[in-house]
Amino acid sequence: MKTQIVQVDERHINKELIQQAGNIIQAGGLVAFPTETVYGLGGNALSSEASGKIYAAKGRPSDNPLIVHICRIEDLQPIVKEIPEAAQKLADAFWPGPLTMIFNKTKLVPYETTGGLDTVAVRMPSHPVALAFIEAAGGYVAAPSANLSGRPSPTLAKYVAEDMTGRIDMILDGGDVELGLESTIVDMTAKEPIILRPGYITREMLGNLLPSVNEDSTIMSDESGQAPKAPGMKYRHYAPRAELTIINGETSRVIEYINGELCRLKKEGHKTGVIAADDTIDKYHADIRKTIGKRNDEIGIARELYRVLREFDDEKTTVIFSEAFDTAGVGQAVMNRLLKAAGHKILQI
Ligand code: TXA
Ligand code: MG
Repeated sequence: MKTQIVQVDERHINKELIQQAGNIIQAGGLVAFPTETVYGLGGNALSSEASGKIYAAKGRPSDNPLIVHICRIEDLQPIVKEIPEAAQKLADAFWPGPLTMIFNKTKLVPYETTGGLDTVAVRMPSHPVALAFIEAAGGYVAAPSANLSGRPSPTLAKYVAEDMTGRIDMILDGGDVELGLESTIVDMTAKEPIILRPGYITREMLGNLLPSVNEDSTIMSDESGQAPKAPGMKYRHYAPRAELTIINGETSRVIEYINGELCRLKKEGHKTGVIAADDTIDKYHADIRKTIGKRNDEIGIARELYRVLREFDDEKTTVIFSEAFDTAGVGQAVMNRLLKAAGHKILQI
């Protein structure tokens, strides 16, 4: 399959081009598109065949449900059994935006889209290109992140092209994404909403609007035997090809420990890498050092994380050490993804 890559400027959206992309979806094809979180790999959410194609293109297990993207609030009703009051509140506050909510689905949504579940995840993204594209596509676009299963989510169209060329019909290149981490997922089917995946919309932000918000206990730990409620969160994810270990502890000891390991591993012939904040990056003796931004700027760190992980792949690093970062606010989502990328290998020293 030939994959067409087209540039779209969000300030001057070429309607003809977007309609062409929409037509591909309506005809059962696949188009990757920018959202404010990460690039999505879109197909018609109401078609079981299209969902099947998405799983195949990503190499994704078919028990891992897709998020249905909409562009108008009135398009929610037909695909969900009920809209709980709390969900209406959150939609009013955070849609369009980086929040995904889970509802009981109607028959309109095929089980192929929901990985066999009776619930459906729905999100209204805020990126102007995404909104125009969803409308042109008929209103319901199923879209996982546009990476091969297991790899870091793409924050640039060139990373989509790396993973998806030859596998999909079109890539809409809208440049850099704004946030860099996937949406917060909240299950609205429980009595009290439960956060299944942390993101830019934090527990505090949700708590300001709702009397109580719970959190899936598997978000920050790897409790064996307990399955995460978002099926996708059980897979090794966001992972660079190199072996990644997170080292947590007092800064000077972390530096000393990592440098000791780097020295040993270099002798063994490894190409080594380090991920650290601005203020400490120069202290490490790795072959490749990548700063992830200012230590107390979680939003900046969120934006850089996947790019940094992908760059290590390009540079053929074989082992990587990362500092641990603060888990306040969006930092929780950052550490959730970093822990997954490391397969939960974190050393307390
Ligand atoms: O920001 C985002 O959410 C991006 C952009 C493209 O919108 N999309 C994204 O999709 O991250 P994906 O497929 O990579 O992650 C979706 C997650 C998976 O962990 C999946 O298991 C969970 O959402 N999920 C989807 N439907 C669900 C459902 N009905 N119940 C529980 N978890 C669900
Ligand atoms: Mg994903």
